[in-house]
Amino acid sequence: MAIEIKGKTAIVTGAGSGIGAAIARSLAAAGAQVVAADIRGDSVGALAAEVRGITAHSCDVTQAGDVDALVAGVMERHGHLDVMVNNVGQSIAGWLHDATNEEWQRVLAVTLSSTFYGVRAALRAMLPKRTGSIINISSGAGFGGSPGLATYGAAKAGVNNLTQSAAVENARSGVRINAIAPGAIETPAILAWAQSQPGGLPAYAATLLPGRFGRPDEIAAAVLFLASDEASFVNGAILPVDGAASARMPAIDVPTTRAR
Ligand SMILES: NC(=O)c1ccc[n+]([C@@H]2O[C@H](COP(=O)([O-])OP(=O)(O)OC[C@H]3O[C@@H](n4cnc5c(N)ncnc54)[C@H](O)[C@@H]3O)[C@@H](O)[C@H]2O)c1
Repeated sequence: MAIEIKGKTAIVTGAGSGIGAAIARSLAAAGAQVVAADIRGDSVGALAAEVRGITAHSCDVTQAGDVDALVAGVMERHGHLDVMVNNVGQSIAGWLHDATNEEWQRVLAVTLSSTFYGVRAALRAMLPKRTGSIINISSGAGFGGSPGLATYGAAKAGVNNLTQSAAVENARSGVRINAIAPGAIETPAILAWAQSQPGGLPAYAATLLPGRFGRPDEIAAAVLFLASDEASFVNGAILPVDGAASARMPAIDVPTTRAR
């Protein structure tokens, strides 16, 4: 049975590219009215022109006022916000000892503060209605240490705890707050980076535990489930969607693990 979310209104931040665009398409295809928000107004404008059920909104989610206005606009237009997907995040790769104050502040602002603003604004809109689903896009990098991703991993670990804290605080409210932790997903920036590695894209993909990148639509499918009433008892979860990557303990890996 296909999941339907007809009549629900949804906001997806960072919907102009990659995972966010796939989420917006998937929610709209399942019947939701979707507001696709992005700092790149042109990219969400193109998405809205192409996909029925999607409208575009230009904003900077590092600004609390922008996020509050985004949610207020939906409440004014539709009277209810049912699904809030906080998808914007940014990594700046590099060793921790080389990271600048500016890089640290930037990664925290784009990845963690943006999620805080989104969760808070959505809670304020949803709690009085006693219904709603907030979904934060985290990362496997939030589960443990990844060389070169310390600032990003710390910010995503913050996203995970924010998700759990919000769920625990509001466990009896009717509003659910969950996160998805994607593994390596084939979005434009990741593909370009993998292409630049020795051996190119296929060689890099072969090093991934599942032997391939995930697709944005595989993340969108999990978001659709969490957005729907089918997930009515799923709250405070950090759901890995990563082909088992985060389940692995590399220290005791043996060659046969990779062969299958
Ligand atoms: N791609 C992966 O492999 C991967 C893996 C794990 C987690 N993630 C997470 O998934 C999310 C989406 O990643 P993606 O790879 O699809 O990214 P992407 O770079 O393809 O898209 C990000 C979108 O966010 C928009 N954006 C950036 N800053 C913004 C701001 N301040 N305000 C509003 N919009 C802004 C960009 O314009 C862009 O359209 C991020 O949180 C990322 O950390 C991605």
